[in-house]
Amino acid sequence: MVSFVVVRMIFFVANLKGGSGKSSIAVSLSVALCRLPTSLRVLLVDLNAEQGSSFDWLGGRMEHQPKRLLICERYSHQRDWVPDQVTQLTCIRFHGQRGIAELAPNFDHVVIDVLPQLSHLVFDMAALADLTVLPTSPSIMDARPTVEIAKSFKKCGFDYRLLLNRVSTAGRTPTAEFEFAQNYLATFERNTLEGWIPMRPAYARALARGKALQECSYGDLSIYAGMVMREIIEAASPWAIKGAPRKTRAAGK
Ligand SMILES: Nc1ncnc2c1ncn2[C@@H]1O[C@H](COP(=O)(O)OP(=O)(O)OP(=O)(O)O)[C@@H](O)[C@H]1O
Ligand SMILES: [Mg+2]
Repeated sequence: MVSFVVVRMIFFVANLKGGSGKSSIAVSLSVALCRLPTSLRVLLVDLNAEQGSSFDWLGGRMEHQPKRLLICERYSHQRDWVPDQVTQLTCIRFHGQRGIAELAPNFDHVVIDVLPQLSHLVFDMAALADLTVLPTSPSIMDARPTVEIAKSFKKCGFDYRLLLNRVSTAGRTPTAEFEFAQNYLATFERNTLEGWIPMRPAYARALARGKALQECSYGDLSIYAGMVMREIIEAASPWAIKGAPRKTRAAGK
């Protein structure tokens, strides 16, 4: 008999480069986590409270998506959160990090989205997380600083993966810029996800309507993004998707 055991996972999506796709990946990952057979409740934390992209995205989802697809709630402050057994995806906008560690045990999985910066907050969240995802465009001007962050994460012993996002392609063929970035990352940074996400207006349209990348209206693009989300989840816990032998986890994380 397969026994599903919830292994709580905390994901953090960060980069000091603005517009690299942190919020896009964070919201898509939170939806992917909601779809796991073991998941009941997922918390999406929007630490970019001023901009509130993840928070607004969930507003779009609540407006555009039929409720049965995912039961969602959002709160502008952690103190407003009302615990219940039904909500599958909860987004809370945080002002500062206080309270995340206390709230996390109420959820099966947590995804944290942050503002573009390299600060104590980023290091604290990376320390709290099981896995940090560093999305970067293939531009060398983005990939290089991302590799530098990766180096400092490595020194701290954090688990992380780089993800190439917003990759321009000519038809299905990646551009020279993408190939250069792949080679660059392969030389300097081994923790790069195999999957990558192309730059497509359909993704941006999906996000604007509260959909995840893997829910966009083009089948192949959805599959692509879904595979990347799966790779991220498996990088944090190989058991999460396959179903698992019993695994215990220290409480409180
Ligand atoms: N693969 C993609 N294809 C097309 N558009 C994308 C893709 N990924 C993200 N975008 C779009 O790029 C823009 C920036 O993405 P996003 O807001 O996720 O970046 P961010 O890193 O969170 O930005 P910030 O640093 O301002 O918080 C958004 O308009 C989003 O819809
Ligand atoms: Mg953002």
